[in-house]
Amino acid sequence: MADKSEVARLHSLAQLDADAVGAYDVAISRIPHPLVRERLNSFRADHLRHVQDLNTCIRDLGGEPVALRSDLKGSAMKGLTAMTGLMGTEATLWAMLGNEELFDRAYELALQFEWTPEVKDLIRQHREDERRHGTWIRDAARTRPWVEGRIPFMEGAEQGA
Ligand SMILES: [Fe+2]
Ligand SMILES: [Fe+2]
Repeated sequence: MADKSEVARLHSLAQLDADAVGAYDVAISRIPHPLVRERLNSFRADHLRHVQDLNTCIRDLGGEPVALRSDLKGSAMKGLTAMTGLMGTEATLWAMLGNEELFDRAYELALQFEWTPEVKDLIRQHREDERRHGTWIRDAARTRPWVEGRIPFMEGAEQGA
């Protein structure tokens, strides 16, 4: 019999990841630069996969999976991203970095609890994804590779985007 709090914790993680998908939707819609968009799209896909993987664990434990809705109007994360999106690519990236740091901490915290080895491995993998996302976004926000003259980072990208 599954521990009820185990399901609840998985549920919270999956909900964060579902909110992240919504926040990425907003960020991607506001960023015109192809290489940045492409990368954010791949991060969005990671979060989608996190929701699906966590939902599988939740179902295995007899719980209700988290629904993935495209409309996340209640999400503070999405609201913050939309607001800073009005200020341009750099501000949007800083907002997304804040979100990513939150996910990293949430997974870190989750790892302090007892899990089966399989679930623990999954949570560790997700945390690694979040760190990879955070590292890339922090770097991009600092170096602003989309600004003209910073070609090496943008190699192969269309100019003037
Ligand atoms: Fe995640
Ligand atoms: Fe992430």
